Amino acid sequence: MKAVIPAAGLGTRLLPATKAQPKEMLPVYDKPTIQYVIEEALASGIDDILIVTGRNKRSIEDHFDRSYELEYTLQKAGKDRVLKQVRKITDLADVCYVRQRNLKGLGDAIACAERHIGDEPFAVLLGDSITSSKIPLTKQLIDVFNRYDKSTIAIREVTPDRVCRHGIVSGSVISDNVYKIDDMVEKPNVGEVPSNLAIVGRYILTPDVFDKISQTEPGFNGEIQLTDALSKLDEVYGVKFGGDVFNIETRLEWLKSSINFAMYDDEFKDDLIGYMKSFI
Ligand code: UTP
Repeated sequence: MKAVIPAAGLGTRLLPATKAQPKEMLPVYDKPTIQYVIEEALASGIDDILIVTGRNKRSIEDHFDRSYELEYTLQKAGKDRVLKQVRKITDLADVCYVRQRNLKGLGDAIACAERHIGDEPFAVLLGDSITSSKIPLTKQLIDVFNRYDKSTIAIREVTPDRVCRHGIVSGSVISDNVYKIDDMVEKPNVGEVPSNLAIVGRYILTPDVFDKISQTEPGFNGEIQLTDALSKLDEVYGVKFGGDVFNIETRLEWLKSSINFAMYDDEFKDDLIGYMKSFI
């Protein structure tokens, strides 16, 4: 299976940090956000990855490309550990790129991948959202997709005050954590909410979604919304996710995610706790 990672957005909520660098390249603890996303794809058995980029996104391509000058310098200085890390990034996956010329929304970004994907089901992992769980979320979706052979998306419960920030779905439980979805709406108004189940940013989609996107009119925020295209599909399944999700789209989420991953690093954990205690 191939994966598509949309990463062309402007990241306006994180300005000025994202003025000259993509939000997908903002470091979360010790590596760029999009590297976590690619590592999730790999851990789910996917190594053919298409990143949808745009203007100002060159640093994403540079990050996953060889840097001979840097490697030579590290080698000469005997910095073997860091050299290994730098090489690993390039060897991670087979990554290619397509540009979204006009930023017309997530649905349009996915449409840019049609040629690369062809007539096969494919995974979508949003380039600004990191998930963390024992079994990678994309792998969980693939397992459910293999059961029903229909588009399958990740969902999770959110508190009532947060429903208007997400795509929201409703449906009926058909087995452990699996829902058959009957309705979905992108960023509903308070009072028009079908449930508190939000779309997480991981999808396995059947290729008929490309037709549905082409039939989709601009929706919320004047953008072509992937949620609106998905709501036109005959059958969609949802997998309720119990792990952590970090959407690197606001300053608070970005800070929380860095603290979270630092806390998993034994080298820094105690120092970080000490610092936070003294600060508080
Ligand atoms: P967001 O809507 O969160 O990203 O899209 P944004 O538009 O960059 O953010 P703000 O609202 O300006 O702060 C989720 C993911 O989809 C990509 C983004 O790059 C992000 O990774 N995206 C969004 C595209 O690739 N193309 C688009 O037209 C919109």
